[in-house]
Amino acid sequence: MGHTMNPEVSFRAYQEADLSVCAGIGVEVFPLVTSRFSGKEVSKVMKGQVDGCHVVSNYRELAIADGEVAGLIFGRVKRRSVLIDICRTLKRLPLISVRFLLGMYGSRRKLIRFLNPCLEQLRVLRKNRPAGEAEVVLFAVAPKYQGIGIGRALMDRFVHHALTYKVKSISVPTDETASFWFYERYGFRRWAEFKDPLESYCADRPIKGFTYQLVLPEANR
Ligand SMILES: CC(C)(COP(=O)(O)OP(=O)(O)OC[C@H]1O[C@@H](n2cnc3c(N)ncnc32)[C@H](O)[C@@H]1OP(=O)(O)O)[C@@H](O)C(=O)NCCC(=O)NCCS
Repeated sequence: MGHTMNPEVSFRAYQEADLSVCAGIGVEVFPLVTSRFSGKEVSKVMKGQVDGCHVVSNYRELAIADGEVAGLIFGRVKRRSVLIDICRTLKRLPLISVRFLLGMYGSRRKLIRFLNPCLEQLRVLRKNRPAGEAEVVLFAVAPKYQGIGIGRALMDRFVHHALTYKVKSISVPTDETASFWFYERYGFRRWAEFKDPLESYCADRPIKGFTYQLVLPEANR
């Protein structure tokens, strides 16, 4: 509470052309994800992550400060039509597959090693996710813009969006190496704790994963 956003902050929808900048922020704030890669491959792998998150989200917003991208939030709100959601996802799959095959996300050989931990991750998250209609998929603020209320503002806007879809709760998967305290401060409560398969694989040691849930006040729905 009580933050003053010194730079002028505005918000706009994420576009395809923002991929590199957003991947750059990802590289800065999620070092573990790319820790098994080096050089140019680091940003390529993060582009793959951002594109992967793009596929499963239907809300993508950026915070702009001093004319540059300062933060991003991708989320998913279950729509009334599951079919539309599936079609939107399928529409992007050919593009992602081509980018993967062209090596735009890094060495295919190395990435294939991530397949097992990724599938395991999906299984574990599915088991530890509260039933809900909205989810935070990707959330980051560039280090130089952290701590001045941009994260809170991005989350407020996603919550507001979810409320227009009459959503009862929002969930988010995170882990002990990320800023999970943000969610606690924001009013989310811890729903589950588990060994995070993907982060543990990246770190080569056991990493605790968490899911958090924010129950939206009935009066606002
Ligand atoms: C999580 C993140 C997006 C928050 O963005 P931010 O713009 O720095 O957050 P804000 O400035 O809006 O701060 C939000 C709240 O967190 C609190 N906070 C900030 N830094 C904190 C810290 N190191 N420890 C505890 N609380 C902290 C603030 O006081 C604020 O609470 P308040 O509004 O009640 O005072 C950002 O820290 C980040 O990108 N982290 C790395 C990536 C990550 O872990 N993403 C989310 C997990 S998947």
